[in-house]
Amino acid sequence: IMGRKFVVGGNWKMNGDKNQINEIVNNLKKGPLDENVEVIIGVPAVYLAYVKSIVPDSIAVAAQNCWKVPKGAFTGEISPAMLKDVGINWVILGHSERRSIFGEKDELVAEKVAHALESGLKVIACIGETLEEREAGKTEEVVFRQTKALLPAIGDKWANVVLAYEPVWAIGTGKTASPQQAQEVHSSLRNWLSTNASPDVANAVRIQYGGSVTAANCKELAACSDIDGFLVGGASLKPEFVDIINATN
Ligand code: G3P
Repeated sequence: IMGRKFVVGGNWKMNGDKNQINEIVNNLKKGPLDENVEVIIGVPAVYLAYVKSIVPDSIAVAAQNCWKVPKGAFTGEISPAMLKDVGINWVILGHSERRSIFGEKDELVAEKVAHALESGLKVIACIGETLEEREAGKTEEVVFRQTKALLPAIGDKWANVVLAYEPVWAIGTGKTASPQQAQEVHSSLRNWLSTNASPDVANAVRIQYGGSVTAANCKELAACSDIDGFLVGGASLKPEFVDIINATN
């Protein structure tokens, strides 16, 4: 991990109501959480302010999406400025569900990333190949293409970006990438960044793995040298999220 602070995100997706949220937050408060791990929970927009008001400051709260301009006639959308206004400092962008269900292309994701960073948000930017792409031997091509689209959007703001490698075939399927499979992509992505961004960026940027991470498989994954954290879906709603946060212990 070489000086990169382990960072674990929980992506609740469109799950949770006030009762469940209270349970999740109480469980996180009880912890105990490794103090050397950065924790970020991705919350449905309507609950952001509520969650922000009940979590300790040591736990960051992220939106799961935002729009690409500060304000205006964009019915149903939320801007980075609005997120900042209610105390939210992170946003998850480019999640595979946004890409596949809502048709977000590399270019739109890049525009959102650029505006979020300009607005002072930190970004978890998600990338990852589908099963079809993996089976066609296109994993690297896809991951590099998705990351390349982000380079001009990120510019010199890499310190405010975490990359999340989430192979689509591993998301919500219970089919985790093996530590070898994940490490291989993380490592080649870091090499690619060294050439296409800079060696400093490649060394410093944290790359999370996401896709069916559980308490049972997190330690093995966390032991890989280029895996710097996780982006957790289903298991972030459960008590075992604490064990995942503490995976490096
Ligand atoms: O963003 C996290 C996610 O897509 C992984 O979901 O349920 O497979 O952990 P899950």
